[in-house]
Amino acid sequence: MIPLDMSPSLYTLYMSRNLFKPSFGTYPHLLVGRDQLLDEFEDAFDGILDPAGLTVLLSGQRGMGKTVLLDSYRRAAESAGWLVITESSSAGLLERLTRDHLPRLLRDHSDEPRTRLESASGTVGPLGGGVSWTERYPAESTLRSQITELTDALRPSGRGLVITIDEVQAADIEDLRKVGEIIQYGRREERLLAFMGAGLSTPIEELLDHPGATFLRRAEHYPVGRVSRADVRAALAGTIADSGREIDVQALDLAADAVDGYPFMLQLVGYHSLKAHKATGPITTDEVNAGIAAARRRLGRHVHTPALRPLSSVDRTYLLAMAQDDGPSRTGKIAERMDVTAQYAGEYRRRLIRDGIIESAGHGKVRFTIPYTADHLREHAAHDALEGLAGEGG
Ligand SMILES: Nc1ncnc2c1ncn2[C@@H]1O[C@H](COP(=O)(O)OP(=O)(O)OP(=O)(O)O)[C@@H](O)[C@H]1O
Ligand SMILES: [Mg+2]
Repeated sequence: MIPLDMSPSLYTLYMSRNLFKPSFGTYPHLLVGRDQLLDEFEDAFDGILDPAGLTVLLSGQRGMGKTVLLDSYRRAAESAGWLVITESSSAGLLERLTRDHLPRLLRDHSDEPRTRLESASGTVGPLGGGVSWTERYPAESTLRSQITELTDALRPSGRGLVITIDEVQAADIEDLRKVGEIIQYGRREERLLAFMGAGLSTPIEELLDHPGATFLRRAEHYPVGRVSRADVRAALAGTIADSGREIDVQALDLAADAVDGYPFMLQLVGYHSLKAHKATGPITTDEVNAGIAAARRRLGRHVHTPALRPLSSVDRTYLLAMAQDDGPSRTGKIAERMDVTAQYAGEYRRRLIRDGIIESAGHGKVRFTIPYTADHLREHAAHDALEGLAGEGG
């Protein structure tokens, strides 16, 4: 029952929900634009196993939805009865696998004598000879024997083990090499063992060149990019309806344009447009405009600023030269604006593409990968210039 003394604004909150989730790593109310990938994930665990679907690498810019897709992979695996270990690349990954995750799963799913398994976790002390399992074997062979044992135990029921690792670009390369080796052994021995990693585009590209990451080069590699306008519209309209609200057609178009195919922005624009909606009746264009403004402020803070911070000043000059255009920029024009040769500009273009900041937009053209990068650069350039002037004056 609704309390009688509720204020009108509290009442509005009470009656309506906001199902948009503008935070990283949060599974969206409606996941759109990834149907093909989701199908492949389901196929990966469906009966006759195609080994290709069992070692997967996702790469993309911030906020494109990599972590959400890792979660979809986990869900697909779990609904086929597989066990899943979900990890991130923070320090101590190998220890967490060998002392926490695997002993726990082995306890629940293997018939091996308890003492041995528990000493593998490091919780129970010495095993024959006064040396514990983890002390006697280095982490790598512990990892291999634990995985062997677990996948052997699961095999009769047709189930396997999945390890997902987020932010792989931040992994200790030695840890990653060890995990990779075990995945490769697993592949050779035809074990039901799957791996999915996800990380940011550029560092992933660099990681793939590293000798310790051979197994990742063999992984099925999916770039995770923008989603179509139709998908954006469907997700906006559907989430708004499920939140108990309606939206004008023009307002919906406005919101879809502002999202520009970028999943994080979809959640931001949706969330802040609902938040701006105070009155009864459908959400209006004014309210969506207010939502877009709020969304853009957060996008700047959470995405543009961190993405642009590591760039050199020449990189920035290149981007500022691009930011003069409203749509895609001609590479020749950029070189002209920078007053450099096309070849010199070309090197920066290649790096910025590899860094995932810009992308090719057809022959001789480039554009920014994340919406509003140009606006952000322009605003900040203006701000910096003003600060510079103020500095000269004072
Ligand atoms: N396909 C999608 N449809 C709708 N919303 C999505 C989709 N993918 C991601 N989102 C939303 O976008 C936001 C960012 O997703 P996620 O955290 O998975 O991005 P990410 O690529 O892992 O970013 P980062 O590189 O910063 O970790 C979340 O709010 C999520 O709910
Ligand atoms: Mg993520």
